[in-house]
Amino acid sequence: MNDYVHGYSEYESARLDDQAQVLRRLLHGDVIFPEGSTVLEAGCGTGAQTLILADNNPTSHFVSVDLSGDSLKEAAAAVAAHGYTNVEMEQQDIYDLSYPDNYFDHLFCCFVLEHLADPRLALMKLRRVLKPGGTITVIEGDHGSFFCHPSSDHITAAVDSLVRLQRQKGGDALIGRRLFPLLSSADFESVRVSPRTVYADNSRPEVVSGFSKKTFVAMVAGIKDEAIENGCISEKQWQQAMVDFDRAVGPEGTFCYTFFKAVGIKIR
Ligand SMILES: C[S@@+](CC[C@H](N)C(=O)[O-])C[C@H]1O[C@@H](n2cnc3c(N)ncnc32)[C@H](O)[C@@H]1O
Repeated sequence: MNDYVHGYSEYESARLDDQAQVLRRLLHGDVIFPEGSTVLEAGCGTGAQTLILADNNPTSHFVSVDLSGDSLKEAAAAVAAHGYTNVEMEQQDIYDLSYPDNYFDHLFCCFVLEHLADPRLALMKLRRVLKPGGTITVIEGDHGSFFCHPSSDHITAAVDSLVRLQRQKGGDALIGRRLFPLLSSADFESVRVSPRTVYADNSRPEVVSGFSKKTFVAMVAGIKDEAIENGCISEKQWQQAMVDFDRAVGPEGTFCYTFFKAVGIKIR
């Protein structure tokens, strides 16, 4: 990965955790692997998804890998604190996995491809270590799917600045819409993509708090200094965007965002 737009701070770790918990049912409800499966979780970060995978699939064995040693330590501590014994952690680069061909029963990869300069190559490298007949599950967001009420040009400019910053670092914050062609071009077959929409208003305070505030606004707020320094947005427009976000997460506001979940099979 060239440069990871969200960084590795405690703030980001807490944000990933909030995101995973609020999206648990929406994204993980149907991520159930056959009994006894060995599953590679590629790019596990601090383990926010790992805990849910381990909990939902007690008879599966997870090998959760990441490039960042510090994130892996945090993930391992979280797994131990929850008492899961079906997860092992390894420091690995998705582009250069040390496992033999056809090694894992299934693959899982969440919020990682959006940060990679060559997601198709990463998918091909992952495919090599998957057994024939095994599946890959990929989950990504797409910031172009976001809208809120009241809408505001300042909010649009702040979200666009995140998209531009991520592009400058070699990633793609609009990758959700590309999952079908990406998986297909990496030779996965029977690819199926399902959009998963999060909608929040005042009647769903847990979604307003867990997703709108602590996941989405926190993600945008986290790139403030870099976005301004890189000329993606002015300080004044940024301040106004934050004021406008407060209205969109307030009693009269609404928030909407779509994630994309793709599943493909390696036939042979
Ligand atoms: C946004 S985080 C997502 C973490 C986790 N999947 C989650 O949803 O909470 C992206 C993670 O991908 C990892 N990553 C990026 N490039 C990688 C690579 N080439 N090999 C392994 N991990 C990588 C980063 O270190 C980071 O922990």
